[in-house]
Amino acid sequence: MRSFARLASLLVSLTFASAALAQFQPQVGQSGKDVIWVPTPDDVVERMLTMAQVTPNDSVWDLGAGDGKIAIMAAKKFGARATGVEYNPDMVKHANDNATKAGVAGSGQGKAVIRHGDIFATDFTSATVITLYLLPALNMKLRPQILSMRPGTRVVSHSFSMEDWEADEISTLDGRRAYFWIVPANVMGTWNIEAGGQRTEMILEQTFQKISGNLALGAMHAGLREPKLRGTAISFSYVGQDRMRRDFSGRVNGSRMEGTFRDEKGVEGKWSATKK
Ligand SMILES: C[S@@+](CC[C@H](N)C(=O)[O-])C[C@H]1O[C@@H](n2cnc3c(N)ncnc32)[C@H](O)[C@@H]1O
Repeated sequence: MRSFARLASLLVSLTFASAALAQFQPQVGQSGKDVIWVPTPDDVVERMLTMAQVTPNDSVWDLGAGDGKIAIMAAKKFGARATGVEYNPDMVKHANDNATKAGVAGSGQGKAVIRHGDIFATDFTSATVITLYLLPALNMKLRPQILSMRPGTRVVSHSFSMEDWEADEISTLDGRRAYFWIVPANVMGTWNIEAGGQRTEMILEQTFQKISGNLALGAMHAGLREPKLRGTAISFSYVGQDRMRRDFSGRVNGSRMEGTFRDEKGVEGKWSATKK
């Protein structure tokens, strides 16, 4: 009877051992829905999150999360609320197990959760930071959606660019590139601008975050100097017919902008503009 019990307990242990052996083990290069799994090295992950200046106030989404390492570091080292989206259900479980081992499993600030899903059928509009390690064509497929996100949303991509949407920063680590962008506000068009009691028209041209334009001063249109758009932050200068340069800075909020200006004599004032 005792030997029967020993045999039974041996069988139970063997069953558990073989179940453990059969457990999913991810393989670098394994196929994925639209791209294979290759993990981003730890130091590159850290640089990506650093470039994006991730803070505990951020909601970081890693699109194509693999073993969850970007989401896990975003939660653990940067205190963010992190979400990964991964199509392979075995990887999803593996990534969430990794989050548990790292002590950051769950949702909320300083936590990471990996969701099962297709990045092309997922609503990630609540993200303040998006991380990518996909393929050039996949970045381009996501680009329209990313560009329509809240201005100021930060995007980091390991290895792959967004073609003619030039990066705001490119960092290199051990020969690997990390690209960084800030989703620009849409300012293209004609604006009625009011500054220090004067009203006129300002025309802005825009290609992604690059802007140019002019300000109507009677029949003359003064070209804008050093126009700059960074998310919702806008700045530009112009030289008036009084030979004075005025520097403007402000914020864009949909079809309105407002801020402060300063001339060369140090005279300051407020300005605002509404889109026509
Ligand atoms: C190159 S790996 C990057 C993993 C991780 N982001 C990193 O940098 O370590 C890409 C991952 O995207 C997943 N993937 C591929 N197509 C996907 C899709 N349409 N939706 C969600 N995940 C996808 C793959 O299974 C793979 O794990």
